[in-house]
Amino acid sequence: MQKKLLISTGGGDAPGLNAVIFAVVNSATRKGWEVYGSRSGYGGLIDRDDLMRLMPEDVEGILSQGGTILGSTNKGNPFAKPVENLAGEVQIVDISDKILANFNRMGFSCHVAVGGDGSLEIAHRFAQKGMPVIGVPKTIDNDLEATDRTFGFDTAVSTATDAIDKLHSTAKSHDRVMVVEVMGRDSGWIALYSGISGGADVILVPEIPFKLDSICAKISDNELHGKHYSIVVVAEGARAEDGEVINKGQGELGRSEVVLGGVGEWVANQIHQRLGKDTRSLVLGHLQRGGSPTTFDRLLALRFGAAAVRMAEAGIFDHMVAWVPPTMTAVPIAEAIRRRKKIDLESDKVLTARDIGICLGD
Ligand code: F6P
Repeated sequence: MQKKLLISTGGGDAPGLNAVIFAVVNSATRKGWEVYGSRSGYGGLIDRDDLMRLMPEDVEGILSQGGTILGSTNKGNPFAKPVENLAGEVQIVDISDKILANFNRMGFSCHVAVGGDGSLEIAHRFAQKGMPVIGVPKTIDNDLEATDRTFGFDTAVSTATDAIDKLHSTAKSHDRVMVVEVMGRDSGWIALYSGISGGADVILVPEIPFKLDSICAKISDNELHGKHYSIVVVAEGARAEDGEVINKGQGELGRSEVVLGGVGEWVANQIHQRLGKDTRSLVLGHLQRGGSPTTFDRLLALRFGAAAVRMAEAGIFDHMVAWVPPTMTAVPIAEAIRRRKKIDLESDKVLTARDIGICLGD
């Protein structure tokens, strides 16, 4: 009897998800597995209609496409699923036993869960219940410990850098301060990489609570030296030294994290009030999650997918594939999700930013 492998994609999408699916389907099929995809996270283990048999011909041509052919959700935690009862009231129920029973009944012997820290935590809980799980690290935020990179990050940085590049000419034409808010949750990786590469004057990251005085001093210094415009890149999770992280509330039912956003506009208003300069703010938002993955992300995603299948063959479960240059390795999922990876403030990227005169808000 053929071994059966299930692949799912959970959490916010990231460019490169389809490349992982492509690699898993092709590599597992060649090694004699039957591969199935579960729609919208664990959907295929709840409703058979959401289970897709995946053959190499089904994934032909998808590796360069953004998004995920399986769909994804960040409201699908089977351990705490909001369900409406007959009276129309929403109750939080644990359907993990049902999902595990279906997984076993369908004869699966491996689940490749592609996700960020939230999805990997769920995968780890299933592993503790006995599901043979292998994690693949996905997130544009690059905030997963234990892997040098997550796929999706390079594409997001490249999109953000392109956008920042385009702002220079309009900011300069109008002598304006342009404030760009980028994603990244509690880590400033996207802001730091795109801000340095895009020639920002100020980069604000969650790792360094900022002082408005420092930001304004940098903009004034630009003026003094005849540069009448400035570009400020703000990570969505950045906060003022004496302030809180700005958010838009809990969002949709079933989400585990608040929706971040608003700090860019707040910073722009503060700069205008203090310096009287024209300011504009923009939020890059989900543009950073869209589009075709960069070559770097494609290759990384393909390598993750192929390595996950090698782990399945070797029976290494409750582990995540991690890229520890120059090799792919397996790390316990529990270790990988223990804490979020932050920017090292002593790293050469941070030093580079400071050396070339970028203000980091401190
Ligand atoms: O974790 C990835 C991410 O894109 C974050 O950078 C961002 O805060 C969040 O997801 C947005 O989530 P949603 O798509 O649910 O708005």
